[in-house]
Amino acid sequence: MSKARSKRFNVDSSRLLKELNASLPFDKKLYAEDIKGSIAHARMLCSQEILSIEELERIVNGLAQVKEEIEKGKFTFDIADEDIHMAVEKRLTQIIGPVGGKLHTARSRNDQVALDFRLYVQKHNLLIAGLLKGLIHSFVTIAEKHTATMLPGMTHLQHAQPISFAYHMLAYANMFRRDFERFMQSYERNNLSPLGCAALAGTPHNIDREFVANELEFAGTTQNCLDTVSDRDFALEISFNIATAMMHISRLSEELIIWSSSEFSYIKLSDKHATGSSIMPQKKNPDIPELLRGKTGRVNGNLISLLTVLKGLTLAYNKDMQEDKEGVFDSVETMEMALRVLKEMIDEMHVNKDRMLEATMVGHLSATDLADYMVQKLGIPFREAYNTTGAAVNLADEKGIDVSQLSLEDLQSIDERIESDVLEKLQLQNSMNARNSQGATSQTQTKRQIETLQKWLESINCV
Ligand code: ARG
Repeated sequence: MSKARSKRFNVDSSRLLKELNASLPFDKKLYAEDIKGSIAHARMLCSQEILSIEELERIVNGLAQVKEEIEKGKFTFDIADEDIHMAVEKRLTQIIGPVGGKLHTARSRNDQVALDFRLYVQKHNLLIAGLLKGLIHSFVTIAEKHTATMLPGMTHLQHAQPISFAYHMLAYANMFRRDFERFMQSYERNNLSPLGCAALAGTPHNIDREFVANELEFAGTTQNCLDTVSDRDFALEISFNIATAMMHISRLSEELIIWSSSEFSYIKLSDKHATGSSIMPQKKNPDIPELLRGKTGRVNGNLISLLTVLKGLTLAYNKDMQEDKEGVFDSVETMEMALRVLKEMIDEMHVNKDRMLEATMVGHLSATDLADYMVQKLGIPFREAYNTTGAAVNLADEKGIDVSQLSLEDLQSIDERIESDVLEKLQLQNSMNARNSQGATSQTQTKRQIETLQKWLESINCV
């Protein structure tokens, strides 16, 4: 008979039902959180004189033994126990006798699972934030080396304007900084202890929720017990934060895949991060970024699953909520692996500067500068300058050259007011550096962005 069935039940449940009912196969992952929470709870019960000091000692020692058995692989997990909470309590009682049964005073599995799961999520909010910080550091380091490395900036995957590789890397650094902030904000918002809410309505025992919160290093306690045992926002938040960060990783992966194609050849991934083909001996495939892009699908699915599980539930706990954990575990594990692999891949990729520079000579990247010149120098309306520049682009195409390679005579044949000072404006490095507005791609602005991120990285010592 399962521990969670009192004498009210006469017939034991079938094997099939036990399998459906049990969360133990996956929530055993929460054993450390469960035991930590139980120790805090027992200490509180003792300080409130609900447990004697002797009982507390026996419970704490017993729990330490359970933990050791689990960690040494000596613990027998039996799905008849349903979940990690019952499994730990059963073993504790086997070890220390009926006093083990006192641990569950003023507690329900509803606040217990809310605590364990929250502790897990909080731990991983910080861990993921730390990994993001490391990744941002990698992007900044690459950016420092490439403020003068030019490549074609694109819109619609078509050459648009020259930008620096540093600037491109910093775009990702800023995305991952927002991700970092999201994880930290979720951590702060959810840093409240749910324990003591019991089944749904609180408890008649004289407990001290603040005591438990302090023991577990939460900033405080949650406000409303009914909300607390029903709430999985913390799990949704980490799922959403992961889905967003993975979407960023996926976009980067897509670029890495394109950049490592023969057509682009902007980068070369280290042999470590590429694989071969079973039939084509010459192949080097970017499997790692492909997998990162592919794994984004499952974390999106996990977010939608959890939203869907929760959307129709009455307050408070419903067993549907047991479905909250596997998706979150999967998202967290996927995220942490992705961040570790991505950092390694970025740190070790080879950047082909020459190929990037060569690519900037295709697509008339400084055409906008010709239009801007005419606006600034000749005072003509932008739209007119835009049309004249179109003619210059056609001329360059006819000649099989880039706009930046047109001669002064070529340009004057289109508008005779154009003077020789236009020529340097059309040079691509100058075109890039002319974009010197705040946040732009010029070397000055890019260096400023690097400094901002470096200062920000130095200011973070919480993870
Ligand atoms: N195994 C359950 C879960 O993961 C724990 C809470 C069970 N509570 C209950 N009243 N059945 O959600």
